Amino acid sequence: MDRILIEGGVPLSGLVEISGAKNAALPIMAASLLSEEPLALDNVPDLADIGSMRRLLQELGVEIRHPPARPRSLVLHCPEVLDTTAPYDIVRKMRASVLVLGPLVARAGTARVSLPGGCAIGPRPIDLHLEGLAKMGAEIRLEGGYVEARAPRGLRGARIRFPQPSVGATENLMMAASLARGETVIEEAAQEPEIVDLAACLAAMGARIEGAGTSTVRIEGVARLHGARHAVLPDRIETGTYVMAAAITGGRLQLRHARLELFGAAAETLAEAGVALAETAEGLEAGRSRDGLTGVDVRTLPFPGFATDLQAQFMALMCIAEGAAMITETIFENRFMHVPELMRMGARITVHGRTALVRGVPALKGAPVMATDLRASVSLVLAALAAEGQTEINRIYHLDRGYERIEQKLAAVGARIERVP
Ligand code: UD1
Repeated sequence: MDRILIEGGVPLSGLVEISGAKNAALPIMAASLLSEEPLALDNVPDLADIGSMRRLLQELGVEIRHPPARPRSLVLHCPEVLDTTAPYDIVRKMRASVLVLGPLVARAGTARVSLPGGCAIGPRPIDLHLEGLAKMGAEIRLEGGYVEARAPRGLRGARIRFPQPSVGATENLMMAASLARGETVIEEAAQEPEIVDLAACLAAMGARIEGAGTSTVRIEGVARLHGARHAVLPDRIETGTYVMAAAITGGRLQLRHARLELFGAAAETLAEAGVALAETAEGLEAGRSRDGLTGVDVRTLPFPGFATDLQAQFMALMCIAEGAAMITETIFENRFMHVPELMRMGARITVHGRTALVRGVPALKGAPVMATDLRASVSLVLAALAAEGQTEINRIYHLDRGYERIEQKLAAVGARIERVP
């Protein structure tokens, strides 16, 4: 298994290209199941999770082409749904596989999707996806670890109110509702930018959607969707990660394609902590606004609140800030697996339930550590970039799920980083 070696202490400087957003590309790829015409996507990141979604869609009958002249583009074409099962082997590797559920039921009238089960960051059920589809007339059965949803005579519009916003459930139901009879209203919908991007793609395919990006989304079903071309929005989590890489090393990075408005409340939190963020003609410039960083309390919340997917990276930053930072995770249980690893590098952190109290130290020290999930892994990369001496990060396959060419991107801006097989 590959490892990453990082020799810390170099202030990063230069230009990083921000890739397309993984979490927008995955649902948008699943949307190709909704039409018999081709969906052309640009700015698709080259990541292990995108590969898993490609394999899954191919099993279901989607033909996928890589136009040779456009390395970041995919053309997905599903003339006919050939299979309606998302097998355990793929779903267990990538939870986002459940995003084929809504499109399959809507187009083919039936779907069988393996239950994702627990994952490293808590139980993560899919009850909201299933309750929504049931309201739209699907019969749901659970059998042998699989969810079976059937709507042989098609789905119908419904009024659905989530008890709390769910990104995946909002996406699944938006896709299903696009081909349902009548109007669907989703209340307490998630408002993440990736949902707005999915809605834009669905609209380009002929769907009638209003309110994406607010808490109430209205979808008027249509009889069929057609082909379209769509460019995936830039990855705000990758952007935030490189912003913090600049700040933690005391360097300065230009982030091409990055967009400030995708940060929501995180922009303000970062500014309070001493991170300078400025819009440029090409994207964003990130560095420190003063000599040192300052401890700032933060709670993760649904968008526009501080993203849970930036929590681990922010904790790494707070490890070397002046004073203390109280970091509360409200979205997922069990999302502090990076804490013991950061402590191996000299961080002072105490966890009480869903809150971690980070007391800043003057410097972190390199150590062998273990990556446990996608965002936890990258927080260790950040800590290592700032640490004295060498850090060895094991189990880095998590990083490859969500960060495109991370060691090349970091090396190009001065990091002493190396992948060893
Ligand atoms: C998506 C993102 C993930 C991000 C998360 C929160 C993708 C592929 N993944 O995950 O990176 O961390 O949003 O921003 O886009 N819940 C239920 N029942 C459900 C669904 C969710 O109880 O049916 C709970 C979850 O356990 C969690 C909360 O709702 O506590 C939010 O989860 P959700 O927004 O659905 O996250 P994902 O779509 O899985």
